[in-house]
Amino acid sequence: MSSLFRAFIRAAGILLAALVAAPVAAVAQLPATVTSPDGQNVVTIDLQGGTLRYAVRRHRANVIMPSALGFEFRNAPRLRDSLRVVDVARAEHDETWTQPWGEVRRVRDHHRELRVTVEEARAPGRRFVAVFRVFDDGLGFRYELPAQSSLASFEIMEELTEFSMASDGRAWWIPSFQPNRYEYLFRASPLSTLDTVHTPLTIEMPSGLHVVLHEADLFDYAGLNIRGGKEQNRTLRVMLAPMHDGVKVRGTTPFVTPWRTIQLADRAADLVPSVLGLNLNPPSKIADPGFVTPMTYDGIWWGMHINTMTWQSGPLHGATTANAKRYVDFAAANHIGGMLVEGWNIGWDGNWVENGDKFSFTQPYPDFDLPAVAAYAQSKGVKIIGHHETGMGIANYERQLDIAFAYYKSLGITAVKTGYVGDKTREGDAHHSQPMVRHYRKVIETAAKYGIAINAHEPIHDTGERRTWPNMISREGARGQEYNAWGGDGGNPPEHETILFFTRMLAGPMDYTPGIFDIEIRRPTGSPRPPEASRPRTTLAKQLALYVVLYSPIQMAADLPENYEGQPALQFIRDVAVDWDTTRVLEGKIGDYVVVARKAAGKDEWFIGAITDEETRTFTEPLSFLTPGRPYVAEVYADGPGANYLTNPTAVVLRQVAVTSTSRLTLRLAPGGGQAIRIRPR
Ligand code: NOJ
Repeated sequence: MSSLFRAFIRAAGILLAALVAAPVAAVAQLPATVTSPDGQNVVTIDLQGGTLRYAVRRHRANVIMPSALGFEFRNAPRLRDSLRVVDVARAEHDETWTQPWGEVRRVRDHHRELRVTVEEARAPGRRFVAVFRVFDDGLGFRYELPAQSSLASFEIMEELTEFSMASDGRAWWIPSFQPNRYEYLFRASPLSTLDTVHTPLTIEMPSGLHVVLHEADLFDYAGLNIRGGKEQNRTLRVMLAPMHDGVKVRGTTPFVTPWRTIQLADRAADLVPSVLGLNLNPPSKIADPGFVTPMTYDGIWWGMHINTMTWQSGPLHGATTANAKRYVDFAAANHIGGMLVEGWNIGWDGNWVENGDKFSFTQPYPDFDLPAVAAYAQSKGVKIIGHHETGMGIANYERQLDIAFAYYKSLGITAVKTGYVGDKTREGDAHHSQPMVRHYRKVIETAAKYGIAINAHEPIHDTGERRTWPNMISREGARGQEYNAWGGDGGNPPEHETILFFTRMLAGPMDYTPGIFDIEIRRPTGSPRPPEASRPRTTLAKQLALYVVLYSPIQMAADLPENYEGQPALQFIRDVAVDWDTTRVLEGKIGDYVVVARKAAGKDEWFIGAITDEETRTFTEPLSFLTPGRPYVAEVYADGPGANYLTNPTAVVLRQVAVTSTSRLTLRLAPGGGQAIRIRPR
């Protein structure tokens, strides 16, 4: 090749590179849009008056009007105003990944990404990147703060993210910053009237569109709350959980925030299974999550809540060696995989909520021989679930973390329930503040080192960490069954679980602890509780349906073993799957009813769970999801004649029906009732 020709090629190459680069330079301007792969969700990013704003449209209709992004810092000017664009970059990603356990086995992550880098046009000239990922089922965006001398370290006083809703939808909410964390009954109100509320925040727009605000991949930041409404009309704003001194987040650059997620669905039923948050978390860091075992479990627990046993030492101490063996025997006899023991360790005597610093996580009470119980359970093929209640004594727990998990590991224990009863840390930081977020993550990572799975009660809300850490199996984070045991407010109303399904459960699995058969809680006096006292506001069939409706890979058979004696309906708990290949919502209306079908992992077996509020309802469901031409039998656990959650909660009928993929099943649900169905090949 002549040198002239080589020079020509080089020149042509440079020209070509310039041509390729030219469009990139051209798009480094705003506004820029990014569209979901199906073209239905469109996000537009623009600079207006020096402030970066995003807007969201779906099916060509406005969902979120231009909404500001930015930060308020301590001892530094607000990072929001007088910005100019530096760079706009795009990417697309399409990958299908497999969950080790879950509501669905295979998850597709197909999104388009837009990264907009902006900087202040005047001193101090700080920079941030707003990263948007747009999926068919919604979008996520987060801030990246690159390393920069004018923002080496920072204290965030507030994240200035807005969600300026296009119309006044109906929001399903629980209040933030209350002593019982997430454990409140949901209420529905126009979003323009909201105060400060938790996420997931589910909003039904006047058009029927459902919008869910939440966050993903929270590991070193403060928990998200949403501030309404009230004075700002339809503009919702971020309000982060504070530390004792009012600072929300301390950090150094480079730094990334959690994703703010906006799930979009045309109908409530399309909200589940919700995988947007999972797709915004990094892939698993556990090479072999084989130690994580989805299972049903029983345990020394309900007795403490209905006051027939105590966590404390004394004549009613629940966690005795003999009692534990009894629960192991019950589990072994009934195909129940695990057994939880609460109240086994020193520290419960006195006011444990205030004396959390006194808990030992290795020293059992004298009447409880943990090594003997663990060996006995192992001989029967039952897995012990350990228990660490901290009473918010975080430093005390962190001091013992390694030794506590090492102790359980030495006994073959591979799952631990944790507890954080209390409002604030000893230092006065909010329950969901940055130090607590770091703590929860530290527990997950330490437990993983010892091959232990975590079921956290009084947790921080689920932000999809189970993708990265599949040992984070379940958590509480809402009013669970225990509220049906305590006196006072009557318990969870019949609509409660039909709301949880479309709100709390969109974040991830919940350890609700279903399966109460002695619904009137007759023991120990033998007489039913008065109607105003707390007790499950469900029928027995609904208690069974909850195993299918409220997803968790560990599901408790929560009642006392003696309350299951002679009950044919126990067969459902023996048979029910806890890990699923597929989930399909057949019917759903927030606060009214849910009918969901799930296919058991690795088996041609389906389960249907149907629940209603206080209204009686009838559904006719085609079974077209079954394999065509294959004969099946449906084992039905239905509300019996005259069943009613108030007056006749335990009437349940069992029947078997031959079905195929062309059959339809008619489900009749009593007031406060439900139905549970197992469909297996004949
Ligand atoms: C509250 C938890 O939700 C409950 O399950 C547990 O029994 C108590 N704390 C004691 O740890």
